[in-house]
Amino acid sequence: MKIKKQPFGTLADGTEIALYTLVNVQGMMATITNYGGAIVSLSAPDRHGNFGDVVLGFDTLEEYVDHSPYFGCLIGRFGNRIAKGRFTLDGVEYVLAQNDGQNHLHGGLKGFDKRVWTSRALESPNGPALVLTYTSPDGEEGYPGTLAVTVAYTLADDNSLIIDYTATTDKKTVVNLTNHSYFNLSAGTAETILDHELFINAETFTPVDGTLIPTGEIRPVGGTPLDFRTLTPIGARINMDDAQLKFGGGYDHNWVLNGTPGELRLAARVYEPTSGRVMEVHTTEPAIQFYAGNFLPPALKGKGGRVYVWRGGFCLETQHYPDSPNKPSFPSTVLEPGQVYRTTTIYKFLAE
Ligand code: GLA
Repeated sequence: MKIKKQPFGTLADGTEIALYTLVNVQGMMATITNYGGAIVSLSAPDRHGNFGDVVLGFDTLEEYVDHSPYFGCLIGRFGNRIAKGRFTLDGVEYVLAQNDGQNHLHGGLKGFDKRVWTSRALESPNGPALVLTYTSPDGEEGYPGTLAVTVAYTLADDNSLIIDYTATTDKKTVVNLTNHSYFNLSAGTAETILDHELFINAETFTPVDGTLIPTGEIRPVGGTPLDFRTLTPIGARINMDDAQLKFGGGYDHNWVLNGTPGELRLAARVYEPTSGRVMEVHTTEPAIQFYAGNFLPPALKGKGGRVYVWRGGFCLETQHYPDSPNKPSFPSTVLEPGQVYRTTTIYKFLAE
């Protein structure tokens, strides 16, 4: 049996939450809960074939509910920030929660990361899969339209975790879905992620202001500490005296990916030298947020008694650019009735 379902706990209102275990033919394993659609664990082989858990997470549902810094979860309706929690569509202004200083972050006070998803496990031709669905009512968190969302996680037999997102709406709205997994490919041997080496397939990024809202400029990475066009340790330049790094407390920026949005292509590659683990990110999305865990607390109790440190995990969140609803020059995040929002992101694991 490649898919197992077990109880993960009960919410305050009595809703029972499940934890699914998916195992592929190579023995790679993912555990995923229908609370926030969070990836709780993901085991990938090192260069000797030893499996280790490469994502940050908690052992209990209570910790996810109480104080998760978005560990492993699905983000919606809108990944990253919308300036001052406001945007306008067809002359109507929509007001959203300002849950990150003056800005709106990750879908608001109760985003998709805090919703209970309907779940269905299945054996797909590629490997075991978990299909999650959630219908967000018209007006939820201030967004227009009833948004019907499906996210399929497939643990493919080539050690890829494939995430397929689809959504439809009954009113014109904005959508930007992603997953917020924090990775540490050392699987517990390296405390921080600073020695991980990163490649990002991007010539430009979207510089931000002091509240992490893009200014609208598209700036070349060349000559900046955001140049990851060749494999570079994350820690090599993270503390440089650079205005963009100061704003993010380190890396917390949106890179504009090379290639054609809508076509699946390499977005990023990460190499962890002690284990030899490699993670490739492929996506159809136009951009990726690389976040170096700069807002993590100094010590956070995680799975199996492990303590996660500041910058103990990084995120590579495939997405449209932050604040797109207020930036007409950015690729559109508008979804209209009759259209289908469809994106795919693949996290593929290898070892060298
Ligand atoms: C994203 C944001 C960060 C932070 C994290 C979660 O990466 O860009 O600023 O909010 O999510 O803490």
